Amino acid sequence: MARLLIRDLRQVVSPAGRAAPLRGRALADIDWIDDGYVLCSGETIEAVGRMADLGAIDGDVLELSARGLCAIPGLVDCHTHPAFGGDRVDEFSLRAGGASYEELHAAGGGILSTVRATRALGAESLRARVERHAGWMRSHGTTTWEGKSGYGLDRETELESLRAIRAAGGVPTWLGAHAVPPEYESGGAYLDAVLGEVLTEASALAEAADVFLERGAFDVLQARRYLTACAAAGLALRLHGDQFTESGAIALAVDLGARSVDHLEATGPTGVAALAASTVTGVLLPASALFLDRPMPPARALVDAGAAIALATDFNPGSAFCDSLPLVMALACTKLRLAPAEALAAVTVNAAHVLGRADLAGRVAPGYRADLVLIDAPDWRYVAYHLGTDGVRAVVKDGRIVHQR
Ligand code: NIG
Ligand code: FE
Repeated sequence: MARLLIRDLRQVVSPAGRAAPLRGRALADIDWIDDGYVLCSGETIEAVGRMADLGAIDGDVLELSARGLCAIPGLVDCHTHPAFGGDRVDEFSLRAGGASYEELHAAGGGILSTVRATRALGAESLRARVERHAGWMRSHGTTTWEGKSGYGLDRETELESLRAIRAAGGVPTWLGAHAVPPEYESGGAYLDAVLGEVLTEASALAEAADVFLERGAFDVLQARRYLTACAAAGLALRLHGDQFTESGAIALAVDLGARSVDHLEATGPTGVAALAASTVTGVLLPASALFLDRPMPPARALVDAGAAIALATDFNPGSAFCDSLPLVMALACTKLRLAPAEALAAVTVNAAHVLGRADLAGRVAPGYRADLVLIDAPDWRYVAYHLGTDGVRAVVKDGRIVHQR
């Protein structure tokens, strides 16, 4: 088996222990080694330690000198929308001039304009788009990512989106309930159709289902109906909730045993307490709040109350055209009042937990997948501190260098 020794690392940093998700004080617990090495065996991490303790290694080993670089776990983006055509740069300009996201959505722009562009792409171009977006994420250190459908909203384009995400190496989520497409008169009529015609095939391709529970999208009864049917088909559950209004997403997520409820910009103290008392992870998307100039989610209150949180980009053309988890970490440290170590755990082990992969991804420790980001900086925290410059020098995935700068 091919072995790779990454040696002379200035720092090797990883969320501590083996537990997932990390909550409360444990969110900031990291293992920090100065002057260290990481030994990868095939796709797995075999050993991590101090250079001073590195003995002779038997057998063939490829050595990589990483003098001056810091290693952190490969980043995990647990919430992205990479399967889309076109862009929304005109809408971006209109919003800069004062138009609101919800107004544009209500006027047939927003998500539905991306649905038109995505349906028009064709399978091959859709795959090329998703590949391109996956490459953008990788260049910022993302080695594991979830991708949602949701810009097709018809049988063919939804299934093709899921296939494209899978083909590009992503973890597919069926966001069949993202918006009500124009050919249906009501959310209920649309759900009749997708649950009847798409669910069976979508559940064979996807790992999870997601719904946009919001004024102007799907209400709590419709969300419950969609998610219940998806759970019965074997899918894990996610929700877009409390983005603009508190609409009962947290209570529904807790009741259905969802993996996560995502956004939470509008969540108040009752929602914070309910999430903290549950096993549902709150996925916070500060790039989306920034992009739409909305309030930030109550991250500090959630962590202090003991809730499990993760951070993600929400990469999409409308509300967060951002594929950089280092930028999200910077926002977490500046706008969400999280410490760098907390932000790191939220984009590694806790994000992996949302994807059901915390035993494989999110840590630099023996037995985990050999996914690493090498940062060119005097301290690993530069990944968040150096705003707009992530310092990513190399990305290792499954023991192989997949990006270098
Ligand atoms: O997570 N909120 C709903 N869905 C996406 C935005 C989709 C879009 O604007 O195209 C989100 O922000
Ligand atoms: Fe989203």
